[in-house]
Amino acid sequence: MSTVPYALPALKFAHGDLAPVIDGRTMRLHHDLHHQAYIDGLNAALAPYPQWHGLTIEDLLRRLEQLPVEIRQTVRNFGGGHANHQFFWKILTPHAAEEPSDGLAQALKRDFGSVDNFRRQFEAVGTQHFGSGWVFLVANPAEDFKLEIVSLPNQDSVLNIGRMGLLTCDLWEHAYYLKYQNRRSEWLHAWWQVVDWPTVAERLDKFRAGHRHA
Ligand SMILES: [Fe+2]
Repeated sequence: MSTVPYALPALKFAHGDLAPVIDGRTMRLHHDLHHQAYIDGLNAALAPYPQWHGLTIEDLLRRLEQLPVEIRQTVRNFGGGHANHQFFWKILTPHAAEEPSDGLAQALKRDFGSVDNFRRQFEAVGTQHFGSGWVFLVANPAEDFKLEIVSLPNQDSVLNIGRMGLLTCDLWEHAYYLKYQNRRSEWLHAWWQVVDWPTVAERLDKFRAGHRHA
């Protein structure tokens, strides 16, 4: 488990493997430069605070309100950026199954009516989100892991709203602008083609089994 200094996680696919949905140049900029910049900012902020070293990024974000006030917002921004991107890469694959497997499909059907309804609502929430941020499919542990769609601004994390992240799509323009320009809804619609449904299902299983993060 990676702790301070946090390091850029390797991708489980080559930069160009998600083309044409995500072109290689976007992946290179997004992973190698943008994600690295969040990690650099986070490590720099935490360097003078050794008492805050040794935590996973998830545990650090959960304790955001206990951090010294002078670095709290920086950790929220850069630490959230690290956690959100790390999560995002995990749920992408060049070998996407078209549909979620049975257990996950049943949960989506229970909470959204159908898998198609879920996808439509997810795209709508992502399209309507104002400004930069992320759209998430989350499980709510306080309500028997009910599935919900939420969007959060900037680099805020679902860890700070008591939810467990199953799936997420990046709404920052750096994620899609080279190929989709201002057409965020097209980006969200195309993005399903690279979603790693087995990993999403595995995250839900882990959370239900009592793991705090997947
Ligand atoms: Fe991003």
